[in-house]
Amino acid sequence: MVILVGYASAHGSTREIAERIGGRLREHGNSVDIRSLARVADAGVYDAVVMGSAIHNGAWLREGSEFLRRNCEALAARPVWAFSVGSHAGLGRLGWWMIAHAGDPKGLAEFEPDFGPRDHHRFAGAFYRRHTSFIGNVIFRAMGGRYGDYRDWAEIDAWAEHIAAELELLQPAAMPKAGASPLPAGANPA
Ligand SMILES: Cc1cc2nc3c(=O)[nH]c(=O)nc-3n(C[C@H](O)[C@H](O)[C@H](O)COP(=O)(O)O)c2cc1C
Repeated sequence: MVILVGYASAHGSTREIAERIGGRLREHGNSVDIRSLARVADAGVYDAVVMGSAIHNGAWLREGSEFLRRNCEALAARPVWAFSVGSHAGLGRLGWWMIAHAGDPKGLAEFEPDFGPRDHHRFAGAFYRRHTSFIGNVIFRAMGGRYGDYRDWAEIDAWAEHIAAELELLQPAAMPKAGASPLPAGANPA
């Protein structure tokens, strides 16, 4: 299958998660295109789409939500998985409570009913003091936040494996394996 693993990332941790997921899907024999969602012209050229964005102020990054707006119809016609990357793992109890009650990030939530992702997973990302403003730092600290890289690679791998298994089930039984002739034995291709 030809799969897009697209990302919207401000500081690289979401991109690295997308690269990890894409690498896993390749190991299962898929042809995987890993690229920024800002650089995807048409999601309709892929058999399936896995896409994710960093969360900023409760919302997907603009290139993520603009990708959804541009490609909503194409996404509705193929299997789609979404992931969001936030700093919840570095937060204290108050932060956890706020995230748990926040719902899906804006920019994704509005489009979800239109294309119906098979799953939306929230991963912990990496967040450092240099990534945020003075006010952002005050708010993060007030929520009990601690900076760091909280990515859980085992969790990311497990999610990618789950997608790979679902994709294998979606392959039409009659679909030939790579390199095999799509024609019945003895058929004349002319
Ligand atoms: C300006 C700014 C706002 C953020 N707002 C949120 C937020 O609302 N919720 C959240 O869970 N994480 C928030 N984060 C944390 C990032 O989403 C997290 O660090 C993520 O891993 C960043 O991904 P990236 O490295 O791909 O840019 C924010 C980070 C920045 C820099």
